[in-house]
Amino acid sequence: MAKQIKTIGVLTSGGDAPGMNAAIRAVVRKSLANGLKVKGIKKGYQGLLNEEIIDMDRRSVADIIQRGGTILGTARCMEFTTPEGQAKGAEICRKYGIDGMVVIGGDGSYRGAQKLSAQGINTVGIPGTIDLDITCTDYTIGFDTSINTAMEAIDKIRDTSSSHERVSIVEVMGRHAGYIALWCAIANGADDILLPEKYDYNEQRIIDNIIDNRKKGKTHHIIINAEGIGHSTSMARRIEAATGIETRATILGYMQRGGSPTCKDRVYASMMGAYAADIMTQGKTNRVVGYRDGKFQDFDIEEALNMEKSIDEYMYQIARIL
Ligand code: ADP
Ligand code: F6P
Repeated sequence: MAKQIKTIGVLTSGGDAPGMNAAIRAVVRKSLANGLKVKGIKKGYQGLLNEEIIDMDRRSVADIIQRGGTILGTARCMEFTTPEGQAKGAEICRKYGIDGMVVIGGDGSYRGAQKLSAQGINTVGIPGTIDLDITCTDYTIGFDTSINTAMEAIDKIRDTSSSHERVSIVEVMGRHAGYIALWCAIANGADDILLPEKYDYNEQRIIDNIIDNRKKGKTHHIIINAEGIGHSTSMARRIEAATGIETRATILGYMQRGGSPTCKDRVYASMMGAYAADIMTQGKTNRVVGYRDGKFQDFDIEEALNMEKSIDEYMYQIARIL
C-alpha cells in the first residue's frame, strides 16, 4: 500500500541552475491542484536542519518562472551527509508534518534524497544542474540556458580573436563533465576541445593544429577547455611561447549559471516539476524524474546513480571533425 501523502516539502540543493524556479513553481502549483499542502525549505538540506521552512501557496511562486537562480536558495551541507544529520532531517520533516520531499539538484542531492527516503520520508528528485551529468536523463534543468549563454559569449570572443589573429582558450563550466564544452565546441565551431572525460595531456597536438591552421590562412583559433581540465591561463602562456602567436584565455565562470532561463528550460522544468508532484501524490518514493526516449519518466534513485555516464563518442568525433 502506497503511503498517503498530505504535505510535501520542496528544496533546491547543490549548484543553482536557471529553470529551478520554474520547477519549484510547478511542484507547488501541481501539488496544490492535487490536494496536497506544500512547504518550501530554504537553502537545501542546510535549511532543513536549521528549520528554515515556509508555507507555500499559489502566490508564493508568482512572477518567478522567468528568473534565474532559485527563490528558495541553495547550499551544500556536510552535516546532512552523516547518519545523525539525516536522522535529524527526517525528524524535522515529521515535526512539520512533511511526509514527502521533492529535491531539485544534482546527483549529490539525490544521495541525500535516498537517505531521507530510507528514514521514512518519501522523496522524488528532479535533475537540476547545468552540467547535464545525470545519466538517466537526456535533459537537466539549466543546461540549455547555460550553453546558450556560453555560446553567445564565445561568438563574441571569436570576433575579437579574428580581428587580432589570436588564439583564444575559452574555459567553460563542468568540473567533472564535458557536456557544456562539447555542445559549445559544435555550436561555436571550435578548433580544439578539451574534456575531462577525454583529456590525453597532448598539448603538442594542439600546438601542431594551431600552426597548421595558421599556415592554411585561418585568422583565429578557438579552443574550448572544460573547467575539469582548467589551467587555461598557464596553457595560454605555453601555447603562445610554442607557436609565437598571441594567445589569450577567458574563463566564463559563473555567468553560465545565471540569467533568465530559455524557453526549453522553463517548459521542461515545469513538466518535470508537475511530474514530480504527480508521482509524489501517488505515494512513490526514492524516485528521480528524467526525460528519456522522448518522454518524461521516473527511475529508482539507486539505479539512476549507478548508471554509467559517458561522452557520446560520435558527438565527440563530430565536434573534432567539423
Ligand atoms: P549536486 O546535487 O549539484 O551534485 P553536491 O554534490 O554538492 O551537489 O550535493 C548537494 C548536497 O547534497 C550536499 O551538500 C549534501 O548536503 C547532500 N549530499 C551529497 N552527498 C550526500 C550523501 N552521500 N548523503 C547524504 N547527503 C548527501
Ligand atoms: O554543478 C554545476 C557546477 O557549476 C559545475 O560545473 C562546477 O564545477 C561547480 O558547479 C562549481 O560549484 P561551486 O558553486 O561550488 O563553485
